[in-house]
Amino acid sequence: MKVAIVGGGNMGLAFARCFAEAGLAAGEDLVILERDVERQALLKESLQCAVIGTPETLLTGCSLIFLAIKPQGAQESCQTVQPYIGDQAVIVSIMAGITLKSLSEWFPKSGRIVRCMPNMPAQIGKGMSVFVPSAGLEQEYCDLTAKYLSATGSCVQVGDESLINAATAVSGCGPGYFFYLIEFMQQTAEELGFSAVEARQLISETMIGAASQWSESNLSAADLRKMVTSKGGATAEAIRVFQDEKLGESFSRGMKKAFERTLELAKLA
Ligand SMILES: NC(=O)c1ccc[n+]([C@@H]2O[C@H](COP(=O)([O-])OP(=O)(O)OC[C@H]3O[C@@H](n4cnc5c(N)ncnc54)[C@H](OP(=O)(O)O)[C@@H]3O)[C@@H](O)[C@H]2O)c1
Repeated sequence: MKVAIVGGGNMGLAFARCFAEAGLAAGEDLVILERDVERQALLKESLQCAVIGTPETLLTGCSLIFLAIKPQGAQESCQTVQPYIGDQAVIVSIMAGITLKSLSEWFPKSGRIVRCMPNMPAQIGKGMSVFVPSAGLEQEYCDLTAKYLSATGSCVQVGDESLINAATAVSGCGPGYFFYLIEFMQQTAEELGFSAVEARQLISETMIGAASQWSESNLSAADLRKMVTSKGGATAEAIRVFQDEKLGESFSRGMKKAFERTLELAKLA
């Protein structure tokens, strides 16, 4: 199957790499449309695929099209690309805030449209994507979308488009929340005497270990936390400070603000 990616930036390149590594699309079967000349050179260097600078007939033979351009100016870009896209192609947009309604207006001849919110760890094949198909999209095209998104990590299909905005605040922005926490853990570990390299290793392994244990167990995060929190112990003291300072409430408020901002940006887009 021939696959096209419109926009060979951070996400476009990440998706292309994952598709190639999974053996889903490479060589002649993968086309990337990228207008930036320097970026085109990088794509040609990093991948074995067709790289084109302007929309052309190579796109017409593609059955699956990923839109990985920025939401700003997306309407114009999509309208330029649209005449080259076959009516039967499945179009998967990963553009933040661009609704299925807008996509169907910009691609009036296409009935197979999917909106998706991936996240940054797709760059290492450990992404989390949430997608919603346009109304009535046949199961085989939802499965096709899931197969390709799974090459970039995990994916979940939802039936309600509003959950894509919620997913932005949870998994889309989520890596940012973890990086923010790591910044403080790293700083504190160094204040406690570790070198930067040691602190990085301690925190990285702790996060991976804790995340894996939680994800692989049937216990809730609260249950696991209680298991490391002996009465009167060191963890209990740290949690007491976090609770006194209402860290949990602050975290929750931040996530809800991210959700509200997603809605605002969606209106602007
Ligand atoms: N980065 C993330 O973590 C993340 C997470 C979730 C979703 N997303 C979504 O993924 C999309 C892509 O994000 P990104 O970070 O990969 O953006 P990016 O690095 O800016 O990549 C977009 C690329 O597409 C090119 N482009 C734009 N319009 C084009 C056109 N009409 N024809 C050919 N090439 C065109 C851009 O060139 P110019 O530089 O010349 O414009 C740029 O090189 C966005 O819609 C974003 O909302 C990103």
